[in-house]
Amino acid sequence: MRRRPDKASHSRYLRPAPALCLTVRAPDSFCGGRTIASTGPDQAIMTQVNEKISTRVEGDIGFIRSDNPPVNALGQAVRSGVVEALDRLNADPAVKAIVLHCEGRTFFAGADITEFNKPRVPPTLQEMILAIENSPKPVVAAVHGTALGGGFETALGCPFRVAVPSARMGLPEINLGLFAGGGGTQRLPRIIGPEKALEFVLSGKPVGAAQALALGILDAVEDGAPDAIGAAFARRVIDEKLPAVAVSRRDDRIAATRADPSAFDALAAKLTARSKGQEAPAANVAAVRRSFTLPFDEAMAIDAEANRALMAGSQSRALRHLFFAEREAARIPGLPKDARARDVASAAIIGAGTMGGGIAMCFAGAGIPVVIVDTTQEALDRGMERVRANYATSVKRGSISQEQVDKRLALITPATDRAAVADADLVIEAVFEDMAVKKEIFSDLEKRVKPGTVLASNTSALDVDEIAAALDRPEDFVGMHFFSPANVMKLLEVVQAAKSSPEAILTAMAVGRKIGKVPVWSGNCDGFIGNRMVAKRSAQAERLLQRGAFPPQVDAALTKLGFPMGPLTTNDMSGLDIGYAIRKRRGTPFPIADAIVESGQLGQKTGSGYYRYEPGDRTPRPNPDTDALIVATSAKLGIERREMSEGEMVERLLFPLINEGARIVEAGIALRPSDVDLVWINGYGWPRHLGGPMFHADETGLAHIVARLREFAADTPDDPSLEPAPLLVELAAKGQGFSEWQKSRAAA
Ligand code: COA
Repeated sequence: MRRRPDKASHSRYLRPAPALCLTVRAPDSFCGGRTIASTGPDQAIMTQVNEKISTRVEGDIGFIRSDNPPVNALGQAVRSGVVEALDRLNADPAVKAIVLHCEGRTFFAGADITEFNKPRVPPTLQEMILAIENSPKPVVAAVHGTALGGGFETALGCPFRVAVPSARMGLPEINLGLFAGGGGTQRLPRIIGPEKALEFVLSGKPVGAAQALALGILDAVEDGAPDAIGAAFARRVIDEKLPAVAVSRRDDRIAATRADPSAFDALAAKLTARSKGQEAPAANVAAVRRSFTLPFDEAMAIDAEANRALMAGSQSRALRHLFFAEREAARIPGLPKDARARDVASAAIIGAGTMGGGIAMCFAGAGIPVVIVDTTQEALDRGMERVRANYATSVKRGSISQEQVDKRLALITPATDRAAVADADLVIEAVFEDMAVKKEIFSDLEKRVKPGTVLASNTSALDVDEIAAALDRPEDFVGMHFFSPANVMKLLEVVQAAKSSPEAILTAMAVGRKIGKVPVWSGNCDGFIGNRMVAKRSAQAERLLQRGAFPPQVDAALTKLGFPMGPLTTNDMSGLDIGYAIRKRRGTPFPIADAIVESGQLGQKTGSGYYRYEPGDRTPRPNPDTDALIVATSAKLGIERREMSEGEMVERLLFPLINEGARIVEAGIALRPSDVDLVWINGYGWPRHLGGPMFHADETGLAHIVARLREFAADTPDDPSLEPAPLLVELAAKGQGFSEWQKSRAAA
């Protein structure tokens, strides 16, 4: 048994641990009765408190067991059951200490997020934890799996905590736009100090059992069944009369004496510097700060109120929406029940360009060997050089060690001969967008790979059905559209061609998750989900410039909302020639964008585009030449330039893309509105706390969006796509939103 190292009062822990006295687990099922008699000599009587919580007593140790699959979320039944169980065990004169443990894959993984939108039914989490903390008989939390949020706070309320070595624990509430309002922001600082607690809550990342032990969060780490390790520790609590320290943890002097307010404030400023526009980081800081400025009970009362306000707010709603959206996106309705993803033990990438190299890095990062093929040694060398440079930047930043880089590089095998793909379970083509070239590659690859190898194209613009037509086995073919830079961007559109098999689709989805992406299923259409929508925004950015805005104003309209970059800065970064070539192909001119390209300005790579760039500096600066060109183009088009408010620009940039999103979900190109949100959050910089375009539409109100789109359509008759989509009109008329539509379709 490893023990908490830093507590003089716990020096008695250094005695050798007694042998585990309780290794027998209680029966797992309850046959519907409230009390079940033991069936063997060592099994205790188990009493069902309610459908989630049961108790048993073995000798002088009482057990409270939660069984609330899948993750023992702390819903109302669990909370009330725990309080009731505590009362019963405290009333039992035989019981001297209590073990709190969970069945299944994890200790309580948090408050029940599905309850956040509903009226509160007591006891609250705070009340349940206080009941544990105030229990006359000491409670030992026995942690396994992931004790997160309210689950971790519950453990913090127990005077003693033990965990299995694989346990992880943390306060991820910030990821849901909240803070740990169940007492986490008050108890944790009293245990590990306010500054460490601040880092803990602002990162939202869990720590492992070993680190928690080192921090003094855990009393012991022990291998074994959770109830058994809890019982072993409870034995010590009873026999060695270990002091219940929870009361002293609530002692206000502890927090006050450990705090250095100015160091705390400096740290807070540093850690929240990049969270512009988000409410939760500041709320987390304020809550931890209360741990050393206010008495415990007063701080707890303010915490509860402040957290409730966050919970009711739009930002937390957005983040909760994304939590469930991410899990929902993995489900593809209509596939046969027995369809399974194929194993991908090795992969191959065709094309060592920026995309190909980035995709190879994703596989290497997940420990999957990957071959990268290009036609010439020079192209391969250039590609591998780019990969090494990317890794070097990460090492410099400290996000990865040189040793990890060496391991990853060893997993990437460059090759000039396509024969190198022979063993791959998945081959992804990432060459330039030329239909003839892609068809040649796939019909050749098909002859070289094993049966069952999934063949994927990273195309962002071509028709996947036409590519598939070149194949004898089109069922093994899918689109896998990565976003640039592929080693960084989370989004992966998995594009279903007409003949893609369920296995091929599931393989692409599963491997996408394995390499750290957020895979989103997409039907086949021009631009798939994301680029089809972004095209509508680009068209509007061009219109704004024609009507009176200049590039910095257009971009600021979105960066002020929290987008990391405006659309025109993004275009400058990608290269203005890309969009130009697409427009030429489609015959859809953008007079200003085209004039900029035709004047030889291609964006960052030529030092000027919408903006001007100093050599070696990517900071966009106003470009007087382009501004003059914009004014001249407006005049040529006969448009009288006018001032535009930021609000108008935001609506003109966002509503048309939302409109296209409505068409996309209605046509089944996206499975659900929340998938569209994931596309924009993970591929196009939509700020997480704004939930994505369809969520934003619901928050704004569809009726307002329909009304504004009608105005835009009336003043821009040459763009019929501005007419509100039928689904948008229908939902607006019913006073509904996309989320209700999604729920009703899921229920149907
Ligand atoms: N409340 C309600 N439901 C929850 C939940 C919670 N706190 N945590 C997870 N779930 C649900 C998920 O929605 C999912 O449901 P589904 O199967 O219907 O899609 C199911 O439990 C399993 O979760 P999943 O995330 O798919 O499992 P996992 O093993 O990959 O991860 C966790 C498990 C606990 C690490 C992860 O679910 C998680 O991070 N949960 C949130 C924890 C949190 O933020 N707690 C603080 C809340 S205050």
